[in-house]
Amino acid sequence: MNARNDDSAASPKGDYVLLAIETSCDETSVAVVRNGREVLSNIISSQIDTHKQFGGVVPEIASRKHVESITIILEEALREAGVSLSDIDAVAVTQGPGLIGALLVGVVAAKSLALALDVPLIGTHHIAGHIYANHLVGDILYPSIALVVSGGHTEIVLLEEEGKFRIIGRTRDDAVGEAYDKVARALQFPYPGGPYVDKLAQEAMEEVVLPRSWLEPDSYDFSFSGLKSAVLSEINRSRMKGESPDFSALARGFQQSVIDVVTGKAIKAAKEFGARQMLLCGGVAANRGLRERLNSLCEEEGLPLIIPPNKLCTDNAAMIAAAADLKWRRGQFSTLDLKAEPILSLEDWSV
Ligand code: KG4
Ligand code: ZN
Repeated sequence: MNARNDDSAASPKGDYVLLAIETSCDETSVAVVRNGREVLSNIISSQIDTHKQFGGVVPEIASRKHVESITIILEEALREAGVSLSDIDAVAVTQGPGLIGALLVGVVAAKSLALALDVPLIGTHHIAGHIYANHLVGDILYPSIALVVSGGHTEIVLLEEEGKFRIIGRTRDDAVGEAYDKVARALQFPYPGGPYVDKLAQEAMEEVVLPRSWLEPDSYDFSFSGLKSAVLSEINRSRMKGESPDFSALARGFQQSVIDVVTGKAIKAAKEFGARQMLLCGGVAANRGLRERLNSLCEEEGLPLIIPPNKLCTDNAAMIAAAADLKWRRGQFSTLDLKAEPILSLEDWSV
């Protein structure tokens, strides 16, 4: 049941074109990428307008929307890239982690294409994708520290060498994007609220100082649920006093606490592990306050920093192609019995 298995695949030489599919959450995306880094197209169809009315992603609806869009997005990606299906050398797809029904749509589409075109299939880890989005922007120096901040994940990942992932810290409760979205809801913003909180925090004249969750001194783990509760109790306290809560001061206080902790831990990790570079990635990497702070801290440390442009920070298929390229260059392909995995270890996905 191999699309073309590891043994029979020719080692890639010269120009090659990967087609990548991402459907792990609420974005249907297809990208065409040449030689692992040259993005020929990266079409993203967001379902945000559909999920907004429910205040969050409804998994069953997400799956149905992916089914409706996948073929259209695929055709658009090929058209924009100016290639035809016969030009595709391998098909990459987000295998996990993510919503099972959503992942399945991409996985089934990718398997069908790989089988029909008789090209290799590359099951790809979503977080490896977020991290290797940086490779679409610049050369990655190793060892590197990646600060992964997304709606579903918050991790500090050490890359000792190319494609070798070691998680040294992770959230013990909410992901940072999830905390942003929950705080945004309390501040009466629509889903996903991260960008609204970011904007309000930037504009704020005042700040409600909120706790920093540093955890144990030697830990690179995170916890954001206490911070989120602190915002909620500040709102309640104001209301009980008959006052209206100062949303912008709260947004600023929340954002400052998040930024202090995530950048503080990332810089500490970079020093401890002798990193030659810092990589920022995931949807929350679009946060202006975070980008600015990390930029100035890295400058102080003389540490080169890569931050992808916003379109490559939030979920997209070009980043999946960038990560799949690690496996393509090593001839590490998936078989056609590849399964969508809602929980998938990043470290085990290492090349
Ligand atoms: O990586 P992503 O697109 O999806 C996941 O894999 O989770 O991240 C989406 C998350 C959402 O929680 C959204 O609110 C957050 O990224 N986000 C932001 C900003 N832009 C997007 N959070 C804070 N500030 C932003 N500017
Ligand atoms: Zn993501």
